[in-house]
Amino acid sequence: MSTVQNPDTVVGTTDASKDANWWRQAVVYQIYPRSFGDDNGDGIGDLKGITSRVGYLQRLGVDAVWLSPFYPSALADGGYDVDDYRDVDPKIGTLADFDEMQAALKAAGIRLIVDIVPNHSSDRHEWFRAALAAAPGSPERDRYIFRHGRGENGELPPTDWTAMFGGPTWEPVGDGEWYLHIFAPEQPDWNWDNREVRDDFLKTLRFWSDRGVDGFRVDVAHALTKDLSEPLPETMNYESHTAPDGEHRMMDRDEVHEIYAEWRQVFDEYDPPRMAVAEAWVPAHRRPRYASPEGLGQAFNFDLLEASFDASQFRTIIEENLDLAARSGASSTWVFSNHDKIRHASRYALPADVDENDWLMSGGTDPRPDDVQGLRRARAATALALALPGSTYLYQGEELGLPEVADIPADDLQDPTWLRTEGKIKGRDGCRVPLPWTTEAGSFGFGGTPHLPQPEWFGRYAAASQDADPTSTLSFYREALALRAKLQTSEHLEFLETAGDVVAFRRPGGWVSVTNFGTGPVALPEGRVLLASGPLDAAAGDLPGETTVWLQETTA
Ligand code: NOJ
Ligand code: CA
Repeated sequence: MSTVQNPDTVVGTTDASKDANWWRQAVVYQIYPRSFGDDNGDGIGDLKGITSRVGYLQRLGVDAVWLSPFYPSALADGGYDVDDYRDVDPKIGTLADFDEMQAALKAAGIRLIVDIVPNHSSDRHEWFRAALAAAPGSPERDRYIFRHGRGENGELPPTDWTAMFGGPTWEPVGDGEWYLHIFAPEQPDWNWDNREVRDDFLKTLRFWSDRGVDGFRVDVAHALTKDLSEPLPETMNYESHTAPDGEHRMMDRDEVHEIYAEWRQVFDEYDPPRMAVAEAWVPAHRRPRYASPEGLGQAFNFDLLEASFDASQFRTIIEENLDLAARSGASSTWVFSNHDKIRHASRYALPADVDENDWLMSGGTDPRPDDVQGLRRARAATALALALPGSTYLYQGEELGLPEVADIPADDLQDPTWLRTEGKIKGRDGCRVPLPWTTEAGSFGFGGTPHLPQPEWFGRYAAASQDADPTSTLSFYREALALRAKLQTSEHLEFLETAGDVVAFRRPGGWVSVTNFGTGPVALPEGRVLLASGPLDAAAGDLPGETTVWLQETTA
């Protein structure tokens, strides 16, 4: 079987800055700003720390940066608790620093996508404070989701639902009313039936678009609209697939797309139109709704991030997602790591059936990861994804082959899931540890004493020590990205029939990618080797196990 994807869409125009399709096959690098680079040495990564490392990003060869939240925040959820959507957190910079960072990125030919968090604000947001100060039934309260509690004086929560980070989903405010938060109590959910809320987000989209950002990553894009009509269900499972399509009370409701249709009109006020990518944990067949050109335009597909290192899983996922993307007119997305998941170099170092939280709770010792195998597989998987049509989203540090830090001391953990589950779920801090830039003790070139402690072995992965080593993971990423930029033309892909644990496909121009998912060698197909994710014994004519190779067909 072969798949052909959007044959008419060709990358690139004469004026690159006006290319409306730039995002379709972009390599996007996610920066978690507090853990990237710390310029002023206070232990928290900042915008100047990004600006001073733009050269690194340019050399890496990424097309765009996706910046996780940098807005004023008490950091109850790593910045996904936003106090003010139209400002920069003074802990990490100023709007002037933002402009400077963006100018440096633009000068390096790198676009900028910012994170937008529309499901909830923080409890310090001006409008939430106003809601608390106002009376039940007031317009101020209507911007959020307040309900009267059960019991004579409202002393019991409206329902006994558990929030996604653990603990109750309702918080009392002392006058018989409770507010809804599907995440932490510091993250009250907005009421998207409220016109002022809708207009305020349009204002925010214009604010950043006017400042020149190229696009938006939309946090929990599937959660905004809710059906809280009585009677409310007794229990709540927030997984979107736990109800028939469109019928879940809180997730993936059809009317959410009315919001994105309005957003699209704003995006299209700009030239080129601003892009958006939805973080929507919905069943695959619901994804095209988010990715439609009348909506956000693109949606994350987390299927590879959740898959094992397995040929048939990869092949099925690729086919399905190219097909889904083609149906909505979007391009697909490929992701192995982000700030919410165990880094893929570690995921692939563990048996496929391991419970990731159990492993984290063991401090990363049970079972012992095979880091060599993990990195070998991670590189093979990344090379495969970089040869696919669509955008690849990379997470800071994966280009260094960084493993997860599984043994952060309990007292240093910051993730609300850890705090809200009373230490039962360790959470996501292990992939958010500040990056190692140099081998220097202290902070490995990050800046001040890192807000999350770096382990001693972090220095082994330092960018500086990988820089000049042609076999390093950093050099491999640079090489792959540079080649991809040259080889990529249209979004065609054709699978090549292979036996056993091999996935192979051809892109236009005779660019062939072959991945051997097995542990033993297979015959290396014909062609000139362009890139290999690991050592190759070309003389033996073998493609070693757990390795991807890119070939230029000589007979094409
Ligand atoms: C998804 C974000 O990626 C995650 O980090 C955050 O905790 C939740 N949304 C809530 O905003
Ligand atoms: Ca700092």
